[in-house]
Amino acid sequence: MLRLDWRTPASWVEAVLSDPLALLSDHAHCELKAASAVQSLIVTYPDRQALVHELGPMAVEEMQHFNQVVAVLAGRGHTLRAARPSPYAEGLGKAARQGRKELMLDRLLVAGLIEERSFERFELLAEHSADGELKDLYSGLLVSEARHRRLFSQVARDYYPRADIETREQELRAAEAQVIRALPFEVRMHSGPVPASAAGDPSSLAEVEEPA
Ligand SMILES: [Fe+2]
Ligand SMILES: [Fe+2]
Repeated sequence: MLRLDWRTPASWVEAVLSDPLALLSDHAHCELKAASAVQSLIVTYPDRQALVHELGPMAVEEMQHFNQVVAVLAGRGHTLRAARPSPYAEGLGKAARQGRKELMLDRLLVAGLIEERSFERFELLAEHSADGELKDLYSGLLVSEARHRRLFSQVARDYYPRADIETREQELRAAEAQVIRALPFEVRMHSGPVPASAAGDPSSLAEVEEPA
């Protein structure tokens, strides 16, 4: 079951699938950033054995995802486009508390929420894409993202009481929903919703309001 406070509407997936190459390039950069975020956690908390043990293999896996996405782009005669800033990750980063102990929990929970959002969007992409290769790519990746989500929770449980995790997770889930809903729509993995007028569907507004 998805643990997100706001669910991506179907109008988003239809709109991003109009430019699969732009989406793939942005997605490849997301995998690269995921690998680097995991490595940064290891660099910051080298003495946390469970964290290092679980996240080392995850960094390798995110790079494998990166290579997989780049190979699909190459197979279509395209190269990676320039990296762009990620207002989604920046917005979530601002929600994290600053004390060393609080920051580690928040970074783990935020990383887990990003995995959860990626899982949700890969599932939509796998379901709606008419392109067999992309369908297979997204179907394969969503399994990994669900596992990564569980791993971040597991590492958090190794260091923090369950009640603290649940309270903070609830707050960060609300923050994540607020951040992503406020982002403009773009052909990117972590963009905001298509405006109701652009979606051309008066019911899409109600869909945006629907809780997860
Ligand atoms: Fe990944
Ligand atoms: Fe991941």
